Amino acid sequence: MVVIEEAPKVAEDDDTLLEQEVNRLYSKLKKLGWDKSACESIAPYTLKINKLKRDKGFKILAHSYQTADIVFGIADIVGDSLALAKKATEIKEKRILFCGVDFMAESVKILNPEKLILVPERGRDCTLADSITGEDVVKLKEENPGVPVVCYVNTNADVKAESDICCTSANAKKIVESLDTDTIIFIPDENMGKNLAKMTGKKIITWPGYCRTHNALTIKRLENLISDDKTKTFAHFECRPEIIESVDYTGGTGDMHRYSAKATKGDKVLFLTEQGFIDRMKVEYPDVEFEDSKMICVSMKRNDLIATLKALENPTDDNVIDLDEDIRKRAYKAVSNMLKY
Ligand code: 13P
Repeated sequence: MVVIEEAPKVAEDDDTLLEQEVNRLYSKLKKLGWDKSACESIAPYTLKINKLKRDKGFKILAHSYQTADIVFGIADIVGDSLALAKKATEIKEKRILFCGVDFMAESVKILNPEKLILVPERGRDCTLADSITGEDVVKLKEENPGVPVVCYVNTNADVKAESDICCTSANAKKIVESLDTDTIIFIPDENMGKNLAKMTGKKIITWPGYCRTHNALTIKRLENLISDDKTKTFAHFECRPEIIESVDYTGGTGDMHRYSAKATKGDKVLFLTEQGFIDRMKVEYPDVEFEDSKMICVSMKRNDLIATLKALENPTDDNVIDLDEDIRKRAYKAVSNMLKY
């Protein structure tokens, strides 16, 4: 049986508010092919969520990979993993609803233990985060005494607790270059580790972890995605080394965003990263032609408006990011070091 959830009721005299909300959503989402009736179907939710978040003192932070209804309908701050971690420490609100995956929300909690961090639908199944445990890192350190451990942000708190410094795709290269040693343990993204070794000339001890979304991109798939010779290609650091070698630019979604801001009318760009980011760019920079990557991260797509509304109305234990205090304290060093770059 299919249960269709009823849209939340808004008071009768809220007709004008509803109409304004439909128009607000349509002005953004039409760039992605949404029509007015699609906006009418989500407006009661976005209206109610936006009111609730204000009444209850929440800020909604969303990663750029979230769906467009979240990014343009309810989020207060949208960004890459580094920007979101930084912003979370800067905002005065003591309550954050985080639309993203678990390891990102955990990083926010590690930095802000006093804040309540809610996630609408837990995305615990990141192939990178699942590939390694804190115990694995302890063993790696025993096998390589004195070698610093850089962990990618896509890791659970117990792994961060055993690492010297955490990084994101935005600052990985800078951090690896800044370390005063020729050999570095980089966990758990093997593609990124190999890419960093080429870029920095350092010896990188890697771990066999990968992002299932970026690792699935092969040269053949890439060729099929490019429709025009003039298209500039920009690959996320998590892509395979052969992809990185064949594209024009490499970086994280923060770098890609800055690239979009500088692009001019008629430029064609293919960002090799999750499709949600490309949808965000299509709305924000309508003069630029963005090719679709068709790369989907299922863990990121767990959150939706219904789960968000439920979490704000009546959060369950599962919505709350709760960390063992000893692990949190030990992970703090690596995550706070990350913010310096
Ligand atoms: P950035 O937000 O750092 O670009 O990367 C997001 C991510 O987790 C990719 O898997």
